[in-house]
Amino acid sequence: MSKIKTAFFCQNCGYESAKWTGKCPSCNQWNTFVEEKVQKELPLHRQEWKSTKIDQPRAPKVVHLDAVEAIEEKRWLTPDAELNRVLGGGIVAGSLVLVGGEPGIGKSTLFLQNALMLKNIKTLYISGEESEQQIKMRADRLKIHNDQFYLLTETSTQAIFQEIKKLEPQLVIVDSIQTLQSPLIESAPGSVSQIRETAGEMMRFAKESNTPVFLIGHITKDGSIAGPKVLEHMVDTVLQFEGDQHYAYRILRTIKNRFGSTAELGIYEMTGNGLRQVNNPSEILISQRDDMLSGVAIAATIEGLRPMLVEVQALVTQSVYGTPQRTATGFDLRRLQLLLAVLEKRGGFHFGMKDVFLNIAGGIKVEDPSIDLAVLCALLSSFEDIGISHKCCFAGEVGLSGEIRAVNRIEQRIAEAEKLGFEKIFISKYHKKGLDFSKFNIEVVSLGRVDEVYQRLF
Ligand code: TYD
Ligand code: MG
Repeated sequence: MSKIKTAFFCQNCGYESAKWTGKCPSCNQWNTFVEEKVQKELPLHRQEWKSTKIDQPRAPKVVHLDAVEAIEEKRWLTPDAELNRVLGGGIVAGSLVLVGGEPGIGKSTLFLQNALMLKNIKTLYISGEESEQQIKMRADRLKIHNDQFYLLTETSTQAIFQEIKKLEPQLVIVDSIQTLQSPLIESAPGSVSQIRETAGEMMRFAKESNTPVFLIGHITKDGSIAGPKVLEHMVDTVLQFEGDQHYAYRILRTIKNRFGSTAELGIYEMTGNGLRQVNNPSEILISQRDDMLSGVAIAATIEGLRPMLVEVQALVTQSVYGTPQRTATGFDLRRLQLLLAVLEKRGGFHFGMKDVFLNIAGGIKVEDPSIDLAVLCALLSSFEDIGISHKCCFAGEVGLSGEIRAVNRIEQRIAEAEKLGFEKIFISKYHKKGLDFSKFNIEVVSLGRVDEVYQRLF
């Protein structure tokens, strides 16, 4: 009897090793190696998806780029404008999309809802997680009817491809890739080798049949798509669905996209009957109030191509314990420490014995560096206990020497602030010459350095 071949796989990044190792040489995580049986037998006849038309093998040949025929990607626009946006303009035929997200964030809801909304497209929703009744109940809750929607609760890829051949769907959704199992691999579903194999089979199906396939995947605590980082390079697009479970807002972010920009973002709100698209995020991210509270500043950020005004809240208090605390929600803690150091050194504000808490309202995470200036102003406002007028907003990056740096698409930010009724926007004075701010009705204040901020603001 032949020996069963095994290998050790890092469950974090998918690194393969012949022997067990304490620390993964690829991702530097400790204790992530698990032994997996690699193969039952040699795959003499793979039972995966086989296309009916067999391509003639083509001899490799050099071609001139100009001689290559350009083909327009075929795309479908879904009724969900946010999904279209993150996919770079709709679903591309034959594309393989991986969607990651923490359990319970709403991945199944999002894709069930989208599949049901695509009226004239025959969709197959494969679920290894929920029963047919559970999915039916959820569909009833979403209150969308679609007579082209089919359901399959199965985990074996062999059985799945048999059903796919019979049904010939135009769109396939797999919930989730961690539950799929290929009969070629002996290890348990969810293991690195299973995920790699089943995703590979799905990819061949997508490419050969030109059917778009969405793979839903769970995410580990540290935010990487569980185990199979290996999947990220295989698929065409990686989307991440994120948000704070305690808030209703969810963000669909593009991590990788072969068919569009990765700077895109879709925003949804979880409601009693499904996810609602949020077309104007600024209005929900700023709490409506009239009084001036200290420690609150509004940032004019841009996520993807979309301007978004977000509220930054800071609380600076006298430290009770020896070591002052610093916490940040929705903002990088190291960046906060850096800004505090800049304020200390370049502005002469002593945060050394203060506890500092920072929060971005709405439970969202902002990566745009233009939020720096608003963070800095919120900190100053709480430090001095003087409120900032709620008619002011900010857009600028803060440099280490205390300079306020220019940020991209400033005109778009100003226009958004004006549209939302702000009366004053603080920006860097280093924006390139020739920008004409006089066309705006909003007052534009240019700042050069951190110490100027204080004088101009209070
Ligand atoms: P789900 O899509 O099952 O999450 P995932 O597939 O990412 O694990 O959604 C989970 C949550 O969404 C669940 O806690 C209930 C909530 N929900 C609503 O609030 N409204 C709805 O209409 C639906 C269908 C779900
Ligand atoms: Mg689910």
